[in-house]
Amino acid sequence: MPYYRSVGRVPHKRHVQFRKPDGGLYREELMGTEGFSSDSALLYHTHAPTDVVDVGTWDIPGQETTPNHPLKPRLVRTRKLDEGGDAVNGRRLLAANQDVRVSYVAADRPSPLYRNAMGDEMYFVQSGTARVETVFGVLDVGPRDFVIMPTSTTHRWVPTGDKPVRLLITESTGGIHPPKRYLSARGQFLEHSPYCERDLRAPAEPYVVEGDNVDVYVRHRAGGTRYTYAHHPFDVVGWDGHLYPYAFNMDDYEPIIGRIHQPPPTFQTFEGPGFVICSFVPHKVEYHPDAVIVPYNHANVDSDELMYYVEAAGGSRGGHGIDEGAITWHPAGFIHGPHTNELERSVEAYNAGKVDIKRLTAVMIDTFRPLELGEGALAVENPDYLATWRNA
Ligand SMILES: [Fe+2]
Repeated sequence: MPYYRSVGRVPHKRHVQFRKPDGGLYREELMGTEGFSSDSALLYHTHAPTDVVDVGTWDIPGQETTPNHPLKPRLVRTRKLDEGGDAVNGRRLLAANQDVRVSYVAADRPSPLYRNAMGDEMYFVQSGTARVETVFGVLDVGPRDFVIMPTSTTHRWVPTGDKPVRLLITESTGGIHPPKRYLSARGQFLEHSPYCERDLRAPAEPYVVEGDNVDVYVRHRAGGTRYTYAHHPFDVVGWDGHLYPYAFNMDDYEPIIGRIHQPPPTFQTFEGPGFVICSFVPHKVEYHPDAVIVPYNHANVDSDELMYYVEAAGGSRGGHGIDEGAITWHPAGFIHGPHTNELERSVEAYNAGKVDIKRLTAVMIDTFRPLELGEGALAVENPDYLATWRNA
């Protein structure tokens, strides 16, 4: 995160004696990125965060991937995946490459304590509500929230409604941040950015839990490891810095429109190493007198495009089994666009003055290296999707 935040109690100087009511010292933990050379947070624990009682392996099944060969567009209907499980162990892998892993879960129970030591995670809440408990404090989240969880942040997901919380999860191998072009050299959102600091929510107070011999599951490059800590890791009485989890709601994304069709980067919300994340939200239709209001055919010659439909598709891709929670996957090397009938229909409707707002609510993840299929995608892929492009 680009700006400073201070929560709970911290001493007036860093790295000085800071004492508990019983006279003992609080234990500092500096969570820093890029080897002490970039953003960090300084946390004050009641107990030593290093006090490990036991360590073991944590088996994470279903991590194999299958190349997209022969190269095909894919339609993956996540709603057909079984509901249940938790947001850590219940994840079903949909797609992955060296930079990023995309998975899905409809979580109906609390997850164990977890952290990803490889990179930031982005959780997108498609539906349901949850309380995200972290070492920094709590975030209450609901439909259309993005949650950015920094690398190695110990946290857990606790569903809070009667229905499961449906999450699209992106595991990065580095940081996930707002696009650089939205920010000043010192990190403030600029005037042309579609969102700004006021739209972000972060923990407001410490969250402390008592507990002994507490397991924490860690995803890392070699697989999974379970640590048992002598004390509950949620024992932080205060922290400050520029590194912390936060939430941003898609409905706060202010779309940028033009007289003619605007390209996907105008909807970009985050970027990470080797990928971008965009929010497609309903927006005012283009207004050139001869505007074509559906996208032109396009070949993303150097990226795979995953479009996750938060709501069932209407418009240029409607009516082809793209229901709520569906993902279309258009890989590099495949040309795609609106169906011809839709192109003509939309122009007719526009010329008749019948279109005012374009209804599209979707999260797009574009990766710059080819994605392979995960077991979750293979389980619910619609084998007939390619046929929808015939005579289209
Ligand atoms: Fe596309």
